[in-house]
Amino acid sequence: MTIPVLTIDGPSGAGKGTVSRAVAKQLGWNYLDSGSIYRSLAIAILEQKIALADVCAITKVAQAMQLKFECGDELVVLLNDVDITAQLVTETVGNTASVIAAYPDVRDALLQKQKDFKKAPGLVADGRDMGTVVFPDAANKVFLTASSEERAKRRYKQLIEKGISANLDGITKEIEARDKRDSERKTAPLIAADDALTIDSSDLPINQVIEAVLNLVR
Ligand code: DC
Repeated sequence: MTIPVLTIDGPSGAGKGTVSRAVAKQLGWNYLDSGSIYRSLAIAILEQKIALADVCAITKVAQAMQLKFECGDELVVLLNDVDITAQLVTETVGNTASVIAAYPDVRDALLQKQKDFKKAPGLVADGRDMGTVVFPDAANKVFLTASSEERAKRRYKQLIEKGISANLDGITKEIEARDKRDSERKTAPLIAADDALTIDSSDLPINQVIEAVLNLVR
């Protein structure tokens, strides 16, 4: 039996996480937050004080790291048995993840960890290259985007709600720099798959986006 996969790719802050989690819950499918894998690696690199240019050392850490995802109301991530959930959302971790994600060897080392999430009854996979590289045969693909201003506002709100201090101007600049880095890298750049449905969520309530994605799958 083939296991159905829905991929949701797009830039940071477009609402991929919220939409993917809601759709996975409605369908009763598994959920892969591939960004959290790159973020977990970033945390390991920062903790071990490995230079961001040391591709060889970063790749070794990527190959050796043990990740566990515990799915309840909130996703809990354990890196080598330590709960790193709270650290995953910081901008430093996101930006570091974006830098190390540009290395082809690092992406190779993390590829199988992502493919392993494909289990019955189905998978919703959220990231940058889910529809183009990790699950190119997925039956349904979405590219979810929004203007950088809107995405910065959402990220700002998210951080404030989590009690993390934030600055809207700084976040806008960081989002634009991250988009540029993720889109311009040579390996698995942020790009819509040819067969993806593009949805711009700038002016759409999140419920409508979720409905549109569910309609695509059904
Ligand atoms: O989705 P996110 O913001 O948690 O991702 C953090 C960074 O990880 C993102 O800027 C680029 C990288 N990433 C990637 O290269 N490929 C993915 N499939 C997911 C994330």
